[in-house]
Amino acid sequence: SGLFTYDPGFMATSATESAITYIDGGNGILLHRGYPIDQLAAHSNFPELSYLLLFGELPTKEQYNEFERTVRSHTMVHEQLSNFYKGFRRDAHPMSIMCGVVGGLAAFYHDHMDISREEDRRISAIRLIAKMPTLAAMCHKYNIGQPFMYPRNDLNYAENFLYMMFGNPCETYEINPVFAKAMDRIFMLHADHEQNASTSTVRLAGSTGANPYACISAGIAALWGPAHGGANEAVLNMLDEIGDDSEDNIQAFIDRAKDKDDPFKLMGFGHRVYRNFDPRAKVMKETCDQVLSELGMADDPQLKIAKRLEQIALEDEYFIERKLYPNVDFYSGIILKAIGIPTNMFTVIFAVSRTIGWISHWNEMISSGNHKIGRPRQLYTGYTQRDYPAE
Ligand code: CMC
Repeated sequence: SGLFTYDPGFMATSATESAITYIDGGNGILLHRGYPIDQLAAHSNFPELSYLLLFGELPTKEQYNEFERTVRSHTMVHEQLSNFYKGFRRDAHPMSIMCGVVGGLAAFYHDHMDISREEDRRISAIRLIAKMPTLAAMCHKYNIGQPFMYPRNDLNYAENFLYMMFGNPCETYEINPVFAKAMDRIFMLHADHEQNASTSTVRLAGSTGANPYACISAGIAALWGPAHGGANEAVLNMLDEIGDDSEDNIQAFIDRAKDKDDPFKLMGFGHRVYRNFDPRAKVMKETCDQVLSELGMADDPQLKIAKRLEQIALEDEYFIERKLYPNVDFYSGIILKAIGIPTNMFTVIFAVSRTIGWISHWNEMISSGNHKIGRPRQLYTGYTQRDYPAE
């Protein structure tokens, strides 16, 4: 019928009003609550950015200390949750475990679940951002057969995550400050990106009145796809496949990406909204250079391939015409790999970071009080009415 606008992929439909994040895709601008991402990356940190996204303003020193302390005090997860992990195969992809355990949190935290109360929403948000690194690190420990590490609340958010990933009960784990800073930066650069597929999924689930843990697990499921958060894992797999930085090898992958009969796309390239450089990719590239040079790995072969690939693509007519630039995920995987994080954890780390964005959007929607259930319509293309065949 002609009653509804047909807009597959939401190319031209605003599904909501929002005051959290602004993107000007043509000019490569990303603002969180008005602050440019490059300034935040240079001067802020992940807990402060989380406060900003959730509450709308930068915290005072007292507000920051109080918020950070509260997040630290919620990092532990219910002991029963470890049984949940044990039901999975040891080689389960960590994203499949995350889809389950995060949804399962609702079964553990029955208190403070009245989403109409601001205080309950705040507590759920804090629980989620505090527990996500713990749950994520538990996936890795389960995969490699090591004991789960309890969080250490004397450490900051990024340090604690590294400790739970790489520490073990038999020895003291020395936190490398270069890794901790890079980890914090990665968390910040993935924290929010307005109405992307996973955030829209969280809002749609939330519009039904579903509890926040269920909504975030829906977001995790949507994030997993290679066109979205799964891209960081796919970039590293692609660099592995390319193998070395010989011109022929790289060109062969560029040619495949341009071939319309081949479904292959250059992973870490292109974005629905940015038709100019992704401002997060710029910061990510700088961070990558810094981390690798501080680690004495400036000659990392994968970094070389990535840089040459970027250079060739940016000079190629196909990519120029379509305004395809490297996105946030093009360089993040190289940093994560240098830190020692296995490839199958990359998208989980994206989920840990994006939880603050998801929950801030969920909170904005619920607190607005006048949201409607999300209920898209369709253009029906099936049979018109017909009769069930008589005997
Ligand atoms: N390699 C080769 N061609 C591409 C690529 C690519 N990475 N991205 C887009 N194109 C082509 C596409 O084939 C189309 O060509 P044509 O006009 O000839 O049909 C044109 O560029 C426009 O692309 P599109 O697919 O219509 O753009 P979209 O907005 O629907 O998709 C995207 C955006 C991010 C899904 C897509 O660019 C892509 O799949 N990129 C690779 C995966 C990736 O890196 N994703 C991470 C996105 S950033 C982090 C996040 O959001 O999670």
